[in-house]
Amino acid sequence: MEGKQFKAFRERLSGYADQHGEASVQRQHAKGKLTARERIDMLFDEGTFQEVDRFVVPVDDNLFGKTSKQYGDGVIIGYGKVSGRLTYVYAQDFTVMGGSLGARHATKVAKIQDLALKTGAPVVGLIDSGGARIQEGIGSLSGYSLIFHRNVKSSGVIPQISVIMGPAAGGAVYSPALTDFVFMTSGTSYMFVTGPNVVKEVLNEEVTSEQLGGAEVHSRKSGVAHFVYEDEENSMLGVKTLLSYLPANNMENSPWVEPGEMVPDFDPQLRSIVPDDPNKPYDVRDVIALIVDNKRYFEVAENHAQSIVTSFARLNGNTIGIVANQPKVMAGTLDIASSMKAARFIRFCDAFNIPILTLEDVPGFLPGIDQEHNGIIRHGAKLLYAYSAATVPRITVILRKSYGGAYCVMNSKNIGGDFNFAWPTAEIAVMGPDGAVAILYKKELEQSEDPVSLKKELVKRYRDDIANPYVAEERGHIDEVIDPAETRKKLINAFEALENKHSELPGRKHGNMPI
Ligand code: HXC
Repeated sequence: MEGKQFKAFRERLSGYADQHGEASVQRQHAKGKLTARERIDMLFDEGTFQEVDRFVVPVDDNLFGKTSKQYGDGVIIGYGKVSGRLTYVYAQDFTVMGGSLGARHATKVAKIQDLALKTGAPVVGLIDSGGARIQEGIGSLSGYSLIFHRNVKSSGVIPQISVIMGPAAGGAVYSPALTDFVFMTSGTSYMFVTGPNVVKEVLNEEVTSEQLGGAEVHSRKSGVAHFVYEDEENSMLGVKTLLSYLPANNMENSPWVEPGEMVPDFDPQLRSIVPDDPNKPYDVRDVIALIVDNKRYFEVAENHAQSIVTSFARLNGNTIGIVANQPKVMAGTLDIASSMKAARFIRFCDAFNIPILTLEDVPGFLPGIDQEHNGIIRHGAKLLYAYSAATVPRITVILRKSYGGAYCVMNSKNIGGDFNFAWPTAEIAVMGPDGAVAILYKKELEQSEDPVSLKKELVKRYRDDIANPYVAEERGHIDEVIDPAETRKKLINAFEALENKHSELPGRKHGNMPI
């Protein structure tokens, strides 16, 4: 016979189930979105999710009515296993007051952040929210502060991932911006500090949500979003793939994963990827695919600042972060956006013990008024700073061009590169042959009867005498010029040798990065 208390307990549970009934599910599905619970089910290994704070209700001192007294206060929090590894989650429920953030809602999110930090496990935020809950006023604003503060305290300690699955309006955007990675879903997610209505009111400009802050804008232009998927299922698969490359916290290493299908350690295909013509582009991803385990890599910010590729991959089962200039886009030049993209990726890798491989083919920084006036000096310095301050194992392979400041920046020996290799196709010098000859032999060229032939000859001499990897090798700035075919093997050996690398920066409160 069931006791009275147990019956009340059951009623309470069924009351909770009812509030998330068919109607609210339909409302969410009609928008092309899944419910918070469906999202959680997709993220976690079956049957592992444990909810926390299910029966929390909104504060009752709201100032403007309109509060819906639903259990949970518009957010589901808890923990479970993702591919067998402990992960914390908070999932905003748009069907309850638009997923808006009230005081209790915020306290719940903060509770999960605290637990994740204490136990050293990643936090995933599934965001679908109208921002600060208007009727709770200061309660919701200070709730955001609670979350932001924890985002910052957790930064570099546990991985933090934000998955935008609906609106992220107003205050809702800043927590994702403080986390390590932002996912968006095409067509159903958008992020903006002030929405189209405010833009219209203040600036009298017409813009749609999609144009203002859709997945396309943030993944290509602003760089706010690192990953975009066509639907929520794929977003969640993306989150799982990302987590598989990462350690649970900054005191651990990433999980080792059996390499599976063997990639040859000696691959002559690598000898012919870089074209004979130094001005001809190629796709650096072809190099990456022939070097890493199973030809598999997971690109970060694929659509943004495409003259640099940032990617996770594995070498002999161990996670590495790859930073590679992309000759296919703007000849691989470094500009403001690519410097910042790479700098942020390097900071992440360094914080989480992920060794960094740099594949270099860069003619220099992008010249121009736009770049100079918008601060290529301070933004380029971010990349220099991030590399110089990184204490994880760092290896560079110069594939082709390595000119000027870009040589120094791209993990050169003297900013702390542990092993610096070059292919025989490498060109290392202060500047490219054409520019160098034009400056050094200006008078001779002006006075020559056949300037074209003279220039050709001088360019050849410059390449033979200066812009090759052997000068750098003879002076110890390159540890070894290697046969491209044996790149994978060289890298595996070198990273293995660096496994116990110990390097410390001078004690200080923190450096002053040119942010
Ligand atoms: C309270 C909210 C809400 C909010 C939405 N709702 N946003 N309730 N506070 N911030 C409620 C709606 O009243 C509605 O309730 C339900 O959620 C669904 O909203 P709809 O507008 O019907 O949905 P939709 O058409 O999809 O539009 C979604 C939206 C829009 C674009 C997010 O609701 C919107 O613009 N909301 C306001 C966004 C905003 O400006 N937030 C405050 C930002 S300031 P009913 O009862 O009808 O179902 C901020 C400051 C923090 O966040 C700063 C910290 C740095």
